[in-house]
Amino acid sequence: MTYDMKYEQPERIFLAQTPTPIESLDELIPGTTILVKRDDLTGTLLSGNKIRKLEFLLAEAKTLEKKRIITCGGIQSNHCRATAIAARRLGMDTLLFLRADEPPTDVSSFTGNLKLNELVGADIRFVTSQQYESRVEIMKSAAGEDDYIIPEGGSNALGAWGYICAVDEMTRQWKTPPSSIICATGSGGTLAGIIMGLQRRHLDIPAYGVCVCNDAPTFQKIVSKICNDAHERWPQLPSVAADQVNIIEGYVGRGYALSTPEELADIKRIASHRGLFFDPVYTAKAFRALLYESHRFGTRPLFIHTGGIFGLLAHS
Ligand SMILES: Cc1ncc(COP(=O)(O)O)c(C=O)c1O
Repeated sequence: MTYDMKYEQPERIFLAQTPTPIESLDELIPGTTILVKRDDLTGTLLSGNKIRKLEFLLAEAKTLEKKRIITCGGIQSNHCRATAIAARRLGMDTLLFLRADEPPTDVSSFTGNLKLNELVGADIRFVTSQQYESRVEIMKSAAGEDDYIIPEGGSNALGAWGYICAVDEMTRQWKTPPSSIICATGSGGTLAGIIMGLQRRHLDIPAYGVCVCNDAPTFQKIVSKICNDAHERWPQLPSVAADQVNIIEGYVGRGYALSTPEELADIKRIASHRGLFFDPVYTAKAFRALLYESHRFGTRPLFIHTGGIFGLLAHS
């Protein structure tokens, strides 16, 4: 690049263990080398893609001298777990609104991410799926002066900086650029960051989000809005039209956080083949797009392993 990009970057608190490695899987698809960016290794309890977003979101909360973080997600939300733990490490409390139509009544039955939220002392409030539709209003009405609200998945303009910077990190790692970049898409912030990160470096590498809920038009709108909000706040970032956002459909299966026997069999196959674990909600579904439609992604696709191991452990 010809200009110094460091001055356009918002404040950041370094929380993730980076750079995460890029590993290659040669044998899964004949003639294709799959590169895996191991963002499941960004930390142990702080593992996964969410921590990259939180480096910027929690930095802003700290700068504004907020005492408590309010956020929301599914009952096994990786984002809520990463937020609760990172906030605690930075001396802040957390209030979580977790979607659950039949929440566990007894703390002793909490598992996976939910258990970690409880152990770290987050204030956990369960809401029904119907109430969750009003999550933005629910969080706003719970918030006082000392609270900082992070949207679902940490997916907004500021959170997108996590993957803008992950692109910078990857360009320092790869000698030959990959033929494409693929990630799971649940709230859109990871893909938005990747798209902006590539465009601002003028890298002509197609980025694909495999949706794990909803559909392509919904996510094209969400991702382009995150990018355009970011462009408004940091005009050096590119604006992105909805039709520039590549979303792959066909891998939602039975629905968000629901699994099919075929998906679970692929998790086992890859774990037993290479000791690489995908989670049933996000990464396994997204990786299946690569396994079953590899022709779309070229001969050196790079898959972002966005984590989710605690969700796998809670899965029965
Ligand atoms: C493990 C994992 N992978 C992928 C995603 C999707 O990322 P995003 O919400 O940025 O689309 C999430 C969260 O939604 C996640 O927890």
